[in-house]
Amino acid sequence: MRSKVTVVGAGNVGATAAQRIFDRGYADVVLVDIVEGLPQGKALDIQESGPVLGSDATIVGTNGYEETAGSDIVVITSGIARRPGMSRDDLLLTNMRIVSSVVSEVAEHSPDCVILPVTNPLDAMAQRAYQVSGFPKSRVVGMAGILDTGRFRTFLAEELSVSVNSIEAYVLGGHGDTMVPVVGSTTVGGIPVANLIAADRLEEIVQRTRDGGAEIVNYLKTGSAYYAPSASIVQMVEAILFDKNEILPCTALLQGEYGINDLFVGVPVKLGNGGVVEVVEFDLNDDEMAALKHSADAVQELVEVMASNES
Ligand code: NAI
Ligand code: 2OP
Repeated sequence: MRSKVTVVGAGNVGATAAQRIFDRGYADVVLVDIVEGLPQGKALDIQESGPVLGSDATIVGTNGYEETAGSDIVVITSGIARRPGMSRDDLLLTNMRIVSSVVSEVAEHSPDCVILPVTNPLDAMAQRAYQVSGFPKSRVVGMAGILDTGRFRTFLAEELSVSVNSIEAYVLGGHGDTMVPVVGSTTVGGIPVANLIAADRLEEIVQRTRDGGAEIVNYLKTGSAYYAPSASIVQMVEAILFDKNEILPCTALLQGEYGINDLFVGVPVKLGNGGVVEVVEFDLNDDEMAALKHSADAVQELVEVMASNES
């Protein structure tokens, strides 16, 4: 039997992720949105691409949760997105309410699923999903690090005219202005990147990575990125469904790892069947560790704002 993946939010990120999962035939897909007709129309359109692409998966759109029952993975993209001039944090309270109501439904209808939050501000929303679902920490794992790392790898590959596959890198921390591209462990064909790119140019690439989301928002003007985000979601879905034990930068609950406690932050995670198999700790130098701590503090501030706005 095929696995079942629900995607909540049939907007740019959700619909594109649903399409990518369907195209690959990885799972039967349920697409949920509050807007009547939107998930139904997009799902039918995607379903009708099946004969052309050779996918026998099914996809249905709905405004409720009955059809989502028994999902293996639920991807949460519902919420508002950034517009020019807005930071991810500006979305906090609106998206907190949306994510809370969605996660209650998800936990009721798919009590054994892995929840994969995507809605921004991502780390705070993952924390919220964990609290509301009551799921074990292994079954709530957020997407952001793969996207941020994908941007970093893209810019480095361009700079050096090498394949993206030759760049090994991690961007850790919160998915915001304080994210931490870990230059010290970034290699190009096994060679430390600092040996190949001058420090000031490397810093420009690091900053472009931090600003990567805003760069797209400034072009699009009415929304934010979704092609690279949806591809990143699918990499996580694949790792979980096919029990790959792949080490990927994801947002996971830390309980002492990297000196951080009871907070969702982006770190290398081994992803497999059931979600987070383990948080992988690798050596960071003092500056990188301080930057990660600083980034975690920014996430903690959002968590505190959420706690003081409980309704
Ligand atoms: P979008 O505006 O295209 O789609 C959002 C969808 O959510 C809309 O169709 C809306 O009707 C739906 N929605 C709102 N409330 C809902 C509810 N209660 N139940 C079900 N559906 C509901 O936005 P887009 O571009 O798809 O982005 C979605 C979210 O993902 C945003 O918060 C965005 O900031 C975030 N994002 C996060 C990334 C990451 O790396 N973690 C990357 C890209 C986007
Ligand atoms: C991004 O980084 C908006 O978080 C989204 O593109």
